[in-house]
Amino acid sequence: MSRTVLITGGARRVGAGIARRLAREEWEVVIHYNHSRDDAESLSKELQESFPDREFPVLQCDLSNPEAVLSLFSRLPDNFQHLDALINNASTFNSGKIVETSPSFLKKEMAVNFDAPFFLLQAFANTFGKGAVVNMLDTKVVKNEGGHAAYLLAKKTLAELTRMGALDFAPDIRINGVAPGPVLPPPRKGKDYLKDIVENTPLKKQVAVDDIASSVSFLLNNPSVTGQIIFCDSGSHLL
Ligand SMILES: NC(=O)c1ccc[n+]([C@@H]2O[C@H](COP(=O)([O-])OP(=O)(O)OC[C@H]3O[C@@H](n4cnc5c(N)ncnc54)[C@H](OP(=O)(O)O)[C@@H]3O)[C@@H](O)[C@H]2O)c1
Repeated sequence: MSRTVLITGGARRVGAGIARRLAREEWEVVIHYNHSRDDAESLSKELQESFPDREFPVLQCDLSNPEAVLSLFSRLPDNFQHLDALINNASTFNSGKIVETSPSFLKKEMAVNFDAPFFLLQAFANTFGKGAVVNMLDTKVVKNEGGHAAYLLAKKTLAELTRMGALDFAPDIRINGVAPGPVLPPPRKGKDYLKDIVENTPLKKQVAVDDIASSVSFLLNNPSVTGQIIFCDSGSHLL
């Protein structure tokens, strides 16, 4: 029997890469999206055509809305009443130093990058009881660069939740993280955005989307690993 996973922000970019990889590995994938409905539906169609014996439903939810987060799993399609895994991948990435951060901006960045993964983990435990969760972090969780202060503080807190939750929910739920380095430039930024960043990584290599997906797959498949964070970042965290 195939296993089922929900990927938040799974319609495009890294999330879609994780969906493609897990589909190849015989998972059924629920593709969550917020605004990218066309991308979500076209990815669902693509996967359905490649793997006709399985299903790849789409599910819309604005993860900045706490009530919507808490009720997300109650809106799963009828034949997806059980999930084996959750990938907390959705994210916002807005710049702002500490001194520039207003209460509403901090609240907004924390809502998608920390509060939603926190309450989805809680709801996953309460609803399904067993399984695996992977939180998408950032190589910069071990650094203190202040240009995206609210985003980075949310990801640092999510890294701590990954460890605290791993202990709290053992032995039933394994919780791990993947901390990507430079994979894709932020939406609306050109390819040049990553040029210097990649050149400054120890491996001098842009991280492939499928390398991130393979890290996620490893963490989902290894029953002896919990509370672990894989830095899939061309070595950036070492600097
Ligand atoms: N790209 C990189 O190089 C890089 C580097 C370090 C860390 N990461 C981490 O890796 C993960 C994937 O990266 P990415 O660049 O592919 O992410 P992304 O494109 O910035 O965001 C992924 C998805 O998050 C969803 N999202 C944003 N706000 C939402 C909201 N209010 N409600 C629901 N969904 C919302 C969006 O869905 P819709 O499009 O449907 O609205 C978006 O497509 C993220 O957690 C990111 O922080 C990425």
